[in-house]
Amino acid sequence: MQETEVQLKTQTSKFLSQPFKLLIGGKWVESASGQTFPVFNPATGHTIAHVASGDSEDINRAVKAARSAFDSGPWSKLTVSERGRLIWKLADLLETHLEELAELESLDNGKPISVARVADVPLAVDLLRYMAGWATKIEGNTIPLSVPYTPDTQYFAYTVREPVGVVGQIIPWNFPLLMAAWKLGPALATGCTVVLKPAEQTPLSSLRLGELLCEAGFPDGVVNIVTGYGETAGAPLAAHPDVDKVAFTGSTEVGKLIVKAAAGNLKKVTLELGGKSPNIVFKDADLETAIAGAANSIFFNHGQCCAAGSRLYVEQAIFDQVVEGVAQKAKNIKVGPGLNPDTEMGPLVSDEQLDRVCGYLQSGFSEGAKAAVGGQRIESQGYFVEPTVLVNTKQTMKVVQEEIFGPVVTAMPFQQVDELIPFANDSVYGLAAGIWTNNLSKAHSLASKLRAGTVWINCYNVFDAALPFGGYKQSGWGREMGHDALELYTEVKAVCIQL
Ligand code: NAI
Ligand code: MG
Repeated sequence: MQETEVQLKTQTSKFLSQPFKLLIGGKWVESASGQTFPVFNPATGHTIAHVASGDSEDINRAVKAARSAFDSGPWSKLTVSERGRLIWKLADLLETHLEELAELESLDNGKPISVARVADVPLAVDLLRYMAGWATKIEGNTIPLSVPYTPDTQYFAYTVREPVGVVGQIIPWNFPLLMAAWKLGPALATGCTVVLKPAEQTPLSSLRLGELLCEAGFPDGVVNIVTGYGETAGAPLAAHPDVDKVAFTGSTEVGKLIVKAAAGNLKKVTLELGGKSPNIVFKDADLETAIAGAANSIFFNHGQCCAAGSRLYVEQAIFDQVVEGVAQKAKNIKVGPGLNPDTEMGPLVSDEQLDRVCGYLQSGFSEGAKAAVGGQRIESQGYFVEPTVLVNTKQTMKVVQEEIFGPVVTAMPFQQVDELIPFANDSVYGLAAGIWTNNLSKAHSLASKLRAGTVWINCYNVFDAALPFGGYKQSGWGREMGHDALELYTEVKAVCIQL
């Protein structure tokens, strides 16, 4: 593994040299406490920036700004077309700054810049454009009524979809910019205002996004950005009595805290939480594609994906061949600092995640799992782990049941599809699943039996702004993307008039 310090583009160096503040009511302000916290480069462990540490007082200020922008600011008076154009303009700005944003994301999160360039930033641009188009298409219905049964009284009734109001959005570190876009897109398209809290590990692209939001011309207070820790900034946002909805992506553990915090004023809640997704390979699949797909499903973004294909189930007859194939792919992955142009897998995001993933590896080995490949931390200052395939695993092991959130897949053989289904569904999660087969009816029949929000057939990790994404069971509440996401940012008002 190479460990070179990469020269940053000048605009990134310049951006990083500033004292980072909070965006509240259209102004960049220091945190009320004056506190800051450090942000690390996961490839080296070095500090790259200091960021304002927001707490409940800052959340109060931000919610107030969002409330006033929602109730009486110019935002509430814009036409839906103007709103759509602003979102489109933001997408254009992201596209113009693609290279810079990809660099920032790679530096902050550790992911390969080559991936940020073709996935994170363009998907964020796409999502914003998709949602910009929806701004003019949030429609209600006219509803024929049957009451009051007297022929001479007539009613006319219709529904309108109105913005839910002030929304708190708490996002994770695995796709920092993209998660911000997934959250902001539907909120802005429906006319909500937002307080966004980025993950403490990766606040930088959200702060750059804040600058671009100002440049695009969003009115003051429409999007407020409060950087800070989960307990001190996230928790007061989730509990705030003047927030109408909280949208969260992160761990299932914190998702449950969000639900409790939201109970105070019964704010609406959407949650996109963990996963332990089964990826199922049949012997009638195109094996070359299936092996590449199985490797990609777990190693993409270093396994730090809620939808990662982390449980590989392979039909017995081809088990060895598939495990060997995936192990070979793992061996060939170029691991290194994300900013190296030829890096294919970077470090994990933080020392905390490194400890967590290594802890799971130890737990697997102590329960009898074996590594077909990988299984170790890569010695370096950064937070690197070898891409790993675990065999000799049992369904009850922690490594098969719990979300590892690292480049670690467990592989298990199966004989019959009927015997497989209960294993595939044996998880508290239900986010995604993969099926690899050339038998169409088998694919669709199995897809209907898997308790998962997304089923990919002969593909994996296909994300599209139009395709709803979210989880069954403890993987969450509600959906992101597609028109399903928009509904969750609106209230339905029924209006009824006697004619
Ligand atoms: P986390 O759930 O603690 O963090 C996600 C976001 O929630 C961050 O912005 C954080 O500041 C905030 N947060 C933390 N505690 C909070 C609280 N009490 N109230 C309100 N907001 C709070 O996730 P963490 O600790 O970074 O990662 C732990 C595990 O969570 C990972 O190993 C992985 O299994 C899972 N995870 C899942 C993600 C997904 O995409 N579904 C993303 C990130 C983590
Ligand atoms: Mg946490």
